[in-house]
Amino acid sequence: MRKKLIVANWKLNGNWAFNEAMMSELALGLKQVQWHDREIILCPPAIYLQQLNGLLSDTPILLGGQDVSEQFFGAYTGEISGQMLKELGCRYTLVGHSERRVRHQETNELVASKAKTALACGLIPVICVGETREERDSGMMNAVIQQQIQSVINCLKADISDVVFAYEPIWAIGTGLTASVNQAQDAHEFIRGVLKQHEELCAQKVSILYGGSVKAESAQVLLEMPDIDGLLVGGSSLISSEFLAISLSSLNSK
Ligand code: PGA
Repeated sequence: MRKKLIVANWKLNGNWAFNEAMMSELALGLKQVQWHDREIILCPPAIYLQQLNGLLSDTPILLGGQDVSEQFFGAYTGEISGQMLKELGCRYTLVGHSERRVRHQETNELVASKAKTALACGLIPVICVGETREERDSGMMNAVIQQQIQSVINCLKADISDVVFAYEPIWAIGTGLTASVNQAQDAHEFIRGVLKQHEELCAQKVSILYGGSVKAESAQVLLEMPDIDGLLVGGSSLISSEFLAISLSSLNSK
């Protein structure tokens, strides 16, 4: 049985007052719901983790980082270590988001190495993979995704079963263009196939999330697809009513 996850990626958004208001609205909306094997994870800017950790206690929400250093400690200005995320109450961390791959030139190898450090620190890495519009249009999509995943397999070996993947087509992020349900399911099936080539059990166990302009109205159908185990939500996670509707729709899915 794979875990179902709804992950909010706040990116560079939020402030003290906004965070407080959002948490009280989410706490109210998520109250008295039985989540069973579902998890809701909030990845705010790291500077607000401590504040949010204090506000989350009456909610089913867990915390995650938006990124983690591949280093454990030392002279790495501006970095945040896995241990620091753990101390601030994180259970998860995103790694390899396309905004980091593209803007910060993060390579497949660096992303894999960050995932390894996260696991060593007791965090579950949510590893983002996905293709650009050009890669999709030129038929390179599968090769690109296969390489992104293979680097993680090469680095983590048997520990690959302990991660989560998120398929995020870059052309769908923040653009309002959600992948169609079939495009998303096909990509997820492909990713599961790559994992299966490595090990059957791992393919069955690893949750694969979809991300890219997810909205309340598209959440339910995406979650009904056999290989879509959850959602990674950017813009819509900043609107409490949207994020509540998305989270609650995970309860109605398989
Ligand atoms: P979006 O972002 O929902 O705003 O497209 C998703 C993401 O970047 O994780």
